[in-house]
Amino acid sequence: MAVTSLSSAAEEIKSRCNIVDVISPLVTIKRAGSNYKGCCPFHKEKTPSFVVSEQKQIYHCFGCGKSGDVIRFIQEYYNMSFPDAVRRLAQQYGIEIDDYAGEMGKKKEPYYEANRMAARFYFDSFTKKANPGYSYMYGRGIQPETVKKFGLGYADDGWQTLSDYMLAQGTPESLLLELGLSAKSSKNDKLYDKFRSRVMFPIFNTMGKVIGFGGRTIVGDDAKYLNSQESIVFEKKRNLYGLSLTKKEIQDEGYAILVEGYMDVIGLYQGGVHNVCAALGTALTPEQAQLLKRYTKKAVLCLDSDAAGINAAMRGCDVLRAAGLEVRVMHVDDGKDPDEYIKKHGADEFRALLEKTTQTDIDFKIGLIAQKYDLNDLSQALRFLKEVADVLRPLSPVEADLYIPKVAKMGGISEGALRREIETPSKKAPAPPPARRDSQEEEAVKAGPKPDESRVMTERMLIKLCLQRSDLWPKLQDYPEAFVTVEGDRIAAILSGLYRENSDFDLKSVRERLDESALAYLDRILDEVITGDEEEAFRGCIEKLQRRRDKLRIQEIMDILSMAEGEDDAQLNELMRELAALQRKYIK
Ligand code: UTP
Ligand code: MN
Repeated sequence: MAVTSLSSAAEEIKSRCNIVDVISPLVTIKRAGSNYKGCCPFHKEKTPSFVVSEQKQIYHCFGCGKSGDVIRFIQEYYNMSFPDAVRRLAQQYGIEIDDYAGEMGKKKEPYYEANRMAARFYFDSFTKKANPGYSYMYGRGIQPETVKKFGLGYADDGWQTLSDYMLAQGTPESLLLELGLSAKSSKNDKLYDKFRSRVMFPIFNTMGKVIGFGGRTIVGDDAKYLNSQESIVFEKKRNLYGLSLTKKEIQDEGYAILVEGYMDVIGLYQGGVHNVCAALGTALTPEQAQLLKRYTKKAVLCLDSDAAGINAAMRGCDVLRAAGLEVRVMHVDDGKDPDEYIKKHGADEFRALLEKTTQTDIDFKIGLIAQKYDLNDLSQALRFLKEVADVLRPLSPVEADLYIPKVAKMGGISEGALRREIETPSKKAPAPPPARRDSQEEEAVKAGPKPDESRVMTERMLIKLCLQRSDLWPKLQDYPEAFVTVEGDRIAAILSGLYRENSDFDLKSVRERLDESALAYLDRILDEVITGDEEEAFRGCIEKLQRRRDKLRIQEIMDILSMAEGEDDAQLNELMRELAALQRKYIK
């Protein structure tokens, strides 16, 4: 059967497939009472707290708190977007999605090809004759072998060099625009190059396809690095720079060194430290942590030594730990980043420093907290202990034990006192009375998701409103579920990309980037009339989305609570509090 929207495909999938059948080949689960139980695939644990309910068709981990339905599981497990997870399951269950983008695999090929061709062109410009890009990198000590390894390139100062070349090779204009290699001049409608006077770093996915570029200015442009806009082949949060080259070594060495910049990866690599990769100019994401976890269970964070780098390291620690990775934090004490350090001190010293790095993520956090207080002052030492207790509390007792003696000594108290502090749940309110259901809520819950049609109407309204008022767009970022049709989802992706680039979008650039079916859909939307105040209409849509989300969450929490069998009280209390708050919201 063919369905025409992602949301109806999702419903169809949920009605046809059994979550237990989907999960059991991927995670070892055993029947336990009316549920199935196993070790959670999303965090590290030894005693099973991952529960799958066949009856409710959901999973929940009483350890890390992750939960959801079969689609959510596939998303999390394979690190996929909602549409991709729906497509994957749909294919498995013979549900045809009537869309243009359903041919995703086939559709992506030309994008990879165009990027590959551009990378080749930049590479040739860099290596075939003298040019400022080469001189710049030469000045930074880059060797020819490294240039080849990373496919470094040069985008010259012309405005059409790449665009002209690519068009002459028969690359469609729309591709160049979507990939962000070119942009269109509003004056004469001609394409011009986005990357100019830059050293180009092609970004590969782990399959070795060029998915985008980073370009470093060599003329002191305001944007030191310019990165390709997101496209159907380039999602920053799901890729790591260098990984395609270094994944084997990461696997072999047994750990990955995570650095901040392109040049750090290249500098370390050239110095013979090969098990390295970097996030793509954003804070490390959970998706990147999952990607890394395919190759190793251990990471060393080696970020810049400035305040920004320390902040990034703190967040990075949490993200990596949440993914179940073992984390160490390394400081380069001389130079602003690993690239500078290795240039100054050489690879051997870097490696020696690396080997000396025993500081875990927890040591690192304790150290940062200690810096804030004068531990000789009794009241400050107490604040230090309370803060550290917050860090140690989530750890398993065995892991916490590794730190307790050291911390007790630092703060000048007994280990026992520290243990008691850790065991006292801090700042947590007493549990609310068990949730009570009255008939009104009962109804709200039973009603479940709104019919598809009304969601499609909301989607159309939101697209129209945002095209009239691009300033509304950021407020929609938290509601990816607003887009329920294949076409709507595609339009939203384009709007996101454009907004990220320019903090604005106009109808013309949106249209240029759309495929035929999405374009037809957009045209229908534009014909519709919205009466009344735009902001009010927008608010109405958001309320609808939020109401739907709350209702689903209420149902989910009730399901989870019904799955609990002697689980950790703290988490159940937390859930009950959340449930009570949601229910209060809808009892008027
Ligand atoms: P850095 O400013 O630390 O750059 O940014 P770097 O790698 O040390 O570069 P050099 O040595 O000055 O050439 C770290 C990373 O943050 C992203 C890039 O991925 C960069 O490698 N970044 C930085 C951007 O995306 N845009 C910027 O304007 C700056
Ligand atoms: Mn840097």
